[in-house]
Amino acid sequence: MPGKNKLQRFAENLTFDNLFQLQYEELVKGFDLKGNWSKNFFKNDNDIVLELGCGKGEYTIGLAKKYPDKNFIGIDIKGSRMYLGLKEARDDKMRNVAFIRTRINLIEMCFGKDEISEIWITFPDPQPRDTLAKKRLTSPWFLAMYKKFLKPGGIIHLKTDNIIFFESTLDVIKENEYQLLYSSYDIYNEGIDDELTRIQTYYEKKWLARGTKIKYLKFKINRHES
Ligand SMILES: C[S@@+](CC[C@H](N)C(=O)[O-])C[C@H]1O[C@@H](n2cnc3c(N)ncnc32)[C@H](O)[C@@H]1O
Repeated sequence: MPGKNKLQRFAENLTFDNLFQLQYEELVKGFDLKGNWSKNFFKNDNDIVLELGCGKGEYTIGLAKKYPDKNFIGIDIKGSRMYLGLKEARDDKMRNVAFIRTRINLIEMCFGKDEISEIWITFPDPQPRDTLAKKRLTSPWFLAMYKKFLKPGGIIHLKTDNIIFFESTLDVIKENEYQLLYSSYDIYNEGIDDELTRIQTYYEKKWLARGTKIKYLKFKINRHES
């Protein structure tokens, strides 16, 4: 049987109780789960981990299955892609997963101070031109925003096929004296290859099929403010 088309997925998305579709106009009025995800949604005090630009949500779902004692939230603007992750979470009765459909630029309105423990950025759009550097999800602008809700010592992971994105992230880490914990230009041949990095997304599989080396790094944003 062929898969559902976009309109069918959009309609079914309205039935998921773990999908939040948040427009700017609603967020500025105040989002009631901001600062309250543990108490009012997950109903536990476990760590909350984000996947930004989650697409079909392979990391969100894959990590949530490996770590039932943590909570995971996938975020993307494309609801028809996230449908696949949502459906798997529902079919497998996963209670530690949620998805948000919104622009990543707006997520400081979704989370309170110190609410998030870790962030995964998986195969982000590379924005390769210098003029688009600000739009990269690891640009200083985005990192300053993540600091507003990432716990002190919180970790950011990046997995990408794109060398410009990877090296510009290494530059930002160096220039801001963030703490680089690990980096590899070719994770499967020379890097750590463990249960965290081995989950593969739709885009990762496409790049691997073309023989592209997969790059991975993780780092800590050390807070300068108290
Ligand atoms: C290249 S795809 C990667 C998807 C998935 N992580 C994977 O590896 O298969 C990039 C994803 O980021 C999402 N994205 C890019 N910029 C975004 C933004 N500002 N807000 C929300 N989603 C965004 C796109 O919709 C897309 O699904």
